Amino acid sequence: MKFKIPIFDLKVYDKNLKKNLINSVSNVLNHGKLFLGPEVDKLEKKLSKFLNIKYTLAVSSGSSAIFLAMKSAGIKKGDEVIVSTLTWIIPVNAILMCGAIPVFADIDDNLNIDPISVNKKITKKTKAILCMHYAGKLCNMLEIKKIAKKNKLKIFEDSAQSFGAKLSNKSSGTFSDAAGFSSNPMKPFNGYTESGFLTTNSKKIYDRAKILRHAGTLSDYKKIVTNHCIEPSLNHKLDSVSASLLLVSLKSFKNKMKIINKYASFYELNLPNNVKFQTISKNEVHGRYVFPIIVNQRDKLAKYLSHNGIETKIFNLPLVYNTPFYKKFKKEKLPNAEKLIKKILIIPCHEKLNFSQIKYVTNKIIKFYSL
Ligand SMILES: Cc1ncc(COP(=O)(O)O)c(C=O)c1O
Repeated sequence: MKFKIPIFDLKVYDKNLKKNLINSVSNVLNHGKLFLGPEVDKLEKKLSKFLNIKYTLAVSSGSSAIFLAMKSAGIKKGDEVIVSTLTWIIPVNAILMCGAIPVFADIDDNLNIDPISVNKKITKKTKAILCMHYAGKLCNMLEIKKIAKKNKLKIFEDSAQSFGAKLSNKSSGTFSDAAGFSSNPMKPFNGYTESGFLTTNSKKIYDRAKILRHAGTLSDYKKIVTNHCIEPSLNHKLDSVSASLLLVSLKSFKNKMKIINKYASFYELNLPNNVKFQTISKNEVHGRYVFPIIVNQRDKLAKYLSHNGIETKIFNLPLVYNTPFYKKFKKEKLPNAEKLIKKILIIPCHEKLNFSQIKYVTNKIIKFYSL
C-alpha cells in the first residue's frame, strides 16, 4: 500500500545532494582504494570531532558496532548484561554473540531502560548495563552512571537511533565505556548503504575493536592484508564508497535535524492532551530517529490514520522477552513495558514531508479523539 504520508522516504530528491553523492562515489572509483580507504579515515576523524570523543571506528553496520563495542570491552561467556525488553532485537542478539546472558529490565515512561528496574536486576554475574536510547531520546544516563559506579559495572550505549542527541552538551555515544551507532539509510545521520561506527574514549577498547574489525588480524590495510590472526573474528570493515557517502550526509545533518525538530515541536504543541510523548528537559537534544506517541486506542487510531493515507508503525513488537528465542530468559513480567507496548505508535516526522502534511496528520489525530 502506498501512503500519501509515509513513515520513511529514502529517495533522494535534492539535485545538489544527488550530484555530490555521485561525485563522491566517482572519486572513490577513481582512486581505487575501495576498502578502508582515505574516506574511512576522514569519516572517523570527523565523527570523533562532532561527538567530542577520542576514538571512532567505522564498521559495516550498527549491528557490528554494538557487538564489537561489548566484545572489545571484555564482555564474555557467563557475564550478565542488563538491557531493556523494549528494543530492536539487535543489541540483545549482540549480547548473546558475546557469549553473555541478557537480563531484561523494565522501561520508564520515556520508553527507555528504567534505572529502578536496573537496580533490581543486579547479581554477582552482572557486568554491564546496555542503554538503548529509544527513538533518539537519551536514557537516564545520570542515574545509570551512579548505579554503574556503585556496582562497578560497565555501561554500553546502543546509539543506533540517537546520533546528535545531547544532554548538557554531551553527545549520545560518549556516556559509556563504548557505544555503537547505525548509519543505515533509515537513520537521521544516514548513509546510503549499510554502515555504522563504534565510539569510545578507551584506547584499549579501540585497539581491540580495530583488530576484531579486520578478521582479528594485525593487518595494516595500507600495506598488506596478512593472516596474522591474534583473535578470531569476522569481517566488519566499512568500504570507502559507504564512507564517502556518509561524509556528504554529515554536511547536511544539522539542516535536516532543524526541519525534523520543527515538525516534532509542532506535534508536541498541537496534538491533543491525551497524546503523550517522550519528555525532553531544557538541556537536552532529542535524536529524533522517529516520533513515537503514547496513546489509548492505539490500533484503532493506526487504522483510522491509514484510511486517511497516513502510514504509522508499531516498532519492537513483541517485547524481546516475549519472542520465541528469548522467552527462556524471561524471569518476570515487566509491567510498564507490557503496558506501553500496547500504546506506542510511530507517526511520520521526517524532513521529506512538508508542513502542510504535518498539520494534516495533527488534524487527523485531533479529529480521531473528538469523534
Ligand atoms: C536500536 C538499534 N540497534 C541496532 C541497530 C542495528 O543497526 P544496523 O541496521 O545498522 O545493523 C538498529 C538498527 O535499526 C537499531 O535500531
